[in-house]
Amino acid sequence: MSVPSNLPVWQQLKAHHAAIADQHLRDLFAADPERFNRFSRRFGDLLVDFSKHRITGETFDLLIELANQAQLPAWIARMFEGEMINHTEQRAVLHTALRNRSDRPVRVKGKDVMPEVNEVLEHARKFADQIRRGKWRGHTGKRIRDVVNIGIGGSDLGPKMICQALQPYADPTLRMHFVSNVDGAHISHVLAECDPESTLFIVASKTFTTQETMTNAHTARAWLIKELGDESAVARHFVAVSTNAEGVSRFGIDTANMFGFWDWVGGRYSLWSAIGLPIIVYLGMDHFLELLEGAHAMDEHFRTAPLTDNLPVILALLGAWYIDFFGADSQVMLVYDDYLRSLPDYLQQLDMESNGKSIDRDGQAVKVNTGPIIWGGLGNNGQHAFYQLLHQGTHLVPADFLAPAQSPNPIGEHHAILLANCLAQAEALMVGKTEAQARAELAKQGLSGEALEKLLPYKVFAGNRPSTSLFYRRLTPQVLGSLVALYEHKVFVQGVIWNINSFDQWGVELGKQLANAILPELKGTQAAAGHDASTLGLIQFCREAG
Ligand code: F6P
Repeated sequence: MSVPSNLPVWQQLKAHHAAIADQHLRDLFAADPERFNRFSRRFGDLLVDFSKHRITGETFDLLIELANQAQLPAWIARMFEGEMINHTEQRAVLHTALRNRSDRPVRVKGKDVMPEVNEVLEHARKFADQIRRGKWRGHTGKRIRDVVNIGIGGSDLGPKMICQALQPYADPTLRMHFVSNVDGAHISHVLAECDPESTLFIVASKTFTTQETMTNAHTARAWLIKELGDESAVARHFVAVSTNAEGVSRFGIDTANMFGFWDWVGGRYSLWSAIGLPIIVYLGMDHFLELLEGAHAMDEHFRTAPLTDNLPVILALLGAWYIDFFGADSQVMLVYDDYLRSLPDYLQQLDMESNGKSIDRDGQAVKVNTGPIIWGGLGNNGQHAFYQLLHQGTHLVPADFLAPAQSPNPIGEHHAILLANCLAQAEALMVGKTEAQARAELAKQGLSGEALEKLLPYKVFAGNRPSTSLFYRRLTPQVLGSLVALYEHKVFVQGVIWNINSFDQWGVELGKQLANAILPELKGTQAAAGHDASTLGLIQFCREAG
C-alpha cells in the first residue's frame, strides 16, 4: 500500500503548489479564453464547472497522475468486483449492486447477490403499492396517511433528504415524518401530528440495536398500543428495515413485514437498499427506480470513463489539492435549491464518517491531512449569515454551488433572482475586488482623502476563492441519483488517495460505550465513579437539577 506523501508525484505537486499558489484566478481566466471549456464536463442533464479552481493544465495532469500512482483504477475495479475492501470489518462494499440496473451479476464470495437484491425490491414494491392504493390498512380499517421513519444516521439522513428533494413527485395524500433524535421532544412533536389509526411506523436500523432508534421505536409502540388499546395493532402499524431478523422479531415485528439488506451495504450508503422504503412508499417504485438508474449511470461512468473525464475522480482530486497542499480544512456546500436543503447534512455523514480517519490501511498514522469538515446550507440564507467568512475570512474554504436551471415552482422572478445570486457569489469569490476597484468605487460615492483611505482596506476582496458549480436542468429522480452517486464515489476516491478505509466507522464507538456506562449513574441505579472531575461534576449537576 502507498503512503501518499511517498509517491513521487506528491513531491512534484508540492513544488508545483509553491510555484502557482500566488497566481490569481482572474489572471488564469484572462490568459485562457478556453478555460471554461477545458475545465468543465457534461453528464446528461448535469453540468460540472470546475474552471474556478486554482489549477492550471499542469496541476490537472499532476493530479491525474496522483490518482494513477495511488492505483485508483485497480481500486475502482476491486470495489465493483466485491472484494473485501472494507478490511477492518472484512466486508465487501457493494452499494453499487443495489442500483445495478444491468444484467451483470455481482458476486460476493462467489455468490451472485442480484437475485436477492431484486427480491427485496419486489417485496418493497408490493408493500408500497398496498399502502399507496389503500389496500394495506391500519388496525381499525383506516387508510394510512402518516408514515413515520424511525432511524438515525444512514437510516435517516438519506431517505429524509431524498423524500424532501423529490417532494414534487410524491403522493400528496401521504405525510412523511422522520424521527431520529432521542430527545423526547422529537418523537413527541411527531406523534402529536399523527392519528394512531392511520399511521405507519418504519423502524429502520441496520443493526436493530442503535440506542436512539430502539428507544424511539419502543415509545412509538407504547403510544400506539395505548391509543388503540390493543397490542395486536402493532402488526398493521409497524414494519422494519434491518439486517437483524432476530432483533426485529424480538421487538415484536413479524419478519414477513421486514425488509432486509446485507452487511456489504454501509449505513451511509444504504438509501438505495430497503432503507429507501420511505422513499418507495412516498414516491412510488417507478420514481425510486429512476433514482437507481441515475445512480447506476454515474456508477458506469465512474467505472469506465477515463480519469481525465471522470467526474468523481476530478472532484476528489480537487478536494485533495486544497486539503493537502493549501491546508484547507473544510468544504462548504452552497445549495441554491430549496428541495435539497438536507443535502449538506446528508453529505456531512457521507464524507466525515467515511474519511474522518487518521490511521491508514496499514495500521499506521497518516502523514497527510484526510477528510474535510463538511458544512453548508441554503445559499441565499447563507449569504445573509456565514458568507462574510467565505469572502473575507482567513480560512480558504472551497465551495460547491448546486443549482437547477428550471424551478418546479415558477413564480414571478423568484428563480431568476435565485440563480443570479448563485452565479454572483461564485463569481465574487473568484474575482474578488482589487484595491484600485474599491478606491474608484469609494471615490464615485464622494469619499476622498483620509476618510477614503480609512475605509478602503475593508472594501477589498482578495478573491481567488475556489468553487465547483454543479448545475442541472431540473431536479429529477434520475439527476438526484447521479448527484448522490457522484459524491459517494468522490469520497471513495479520496480514501484511496489517502490510503484509508472509507467504509468503517470505529470512531463512533467510544462515545456509545461511555454513554452506556453513564446512563445508570444518571438514573441513580449505580454510583457515579471512575470518571474525570469534569464528567463527575456534570453528572452531579444533572442529578441535582434534573
Ligand atoms: O453510530 C454510527 C452509525 O453506525 C452509522 O454508521 C449508521 O448509519 C447509524 O449509526 C445508524 O445505525 P443503524 O442503522 O444500525 O441503526
